[in-house]
Amino acid sequence: MSMLTEGIRHLPDYLDRETQEKLVDEIRAVVEAAPLYVPAMPKTGKPMSVRMTNCGTFGWVTDRDGGYRYQAVHPVTGKPWPPIPKRLMALWAEVSDCPHEPQACLVNFYSDSARMGLHQDRDEKDLSAPVVSVSLGDDCLFRVGGTKRSDPTVSVHLSSGAIVILGGEGRLAFHGVDRIYPGTSTLLKQGGRINLTLRRVTLP
Ligand code: SIN
Ligand code: FE2
Repeated sequence: MSMLTEGIRHLPDYLDRETQEKLVDEIRAVVEAAPLYVPAMPKTGKPMSVRMTNCGTFGWVTDRDGGYRYQAVHPVTGKPWPPIPKRLMALWAEVSDCPHEPQACLVNFYSDSARMGLHQDRDEKDLSAPVVSVSLGDDCLFRVGGTKRSDPTVSVHLSSGAIVILGGEGRLAFHGVDRIYPGTSTLLKQGGRINLTLRRVTLP
């Protein structure tokens, strides 16, 4: 197996089925309060294929005029984001190695054809805290490289219940989702993949 950059960890099957089901229920409640919307790329306004929402004090958003940023309210409803479910707060405490609580949880929903281009998570002021990612539903092909776009990448198959931690040297690693494998999980009744990323945003 190819080596991941120092600080990047893949924990396959970290969450058991029951925990995954509870998380899906909790995310469903988040989505009821803060509906999924179609984010747009900065400048071009090109719609992303992933639908998004957030929970937490801050949420990550993007649109043509404002670009990538964190804000305290949902861009469509104008309401504050719902809180991060306790189960996710506890998961962060378990795996993050960070003494401070997460402030944002980005919820990404991938339909069968959705993907996410190679990018860095670099809109946070606190880069000493990791990004903790949770995969639910259909499998995907995740790609991760180094801190330069031109660095070589490795592909990792992520299944439901997997955790990925981008920390330390790997905190600013380029990463993306090349494809979803439809029909590989029974967790989500309508199929697709949910990815949750827990982040700190401000300096403690
Ligand atoms: C992201 O980088 O925001 C999502 C990564 C993933 O879907 O696994
Ligand atoms: Fe990311």
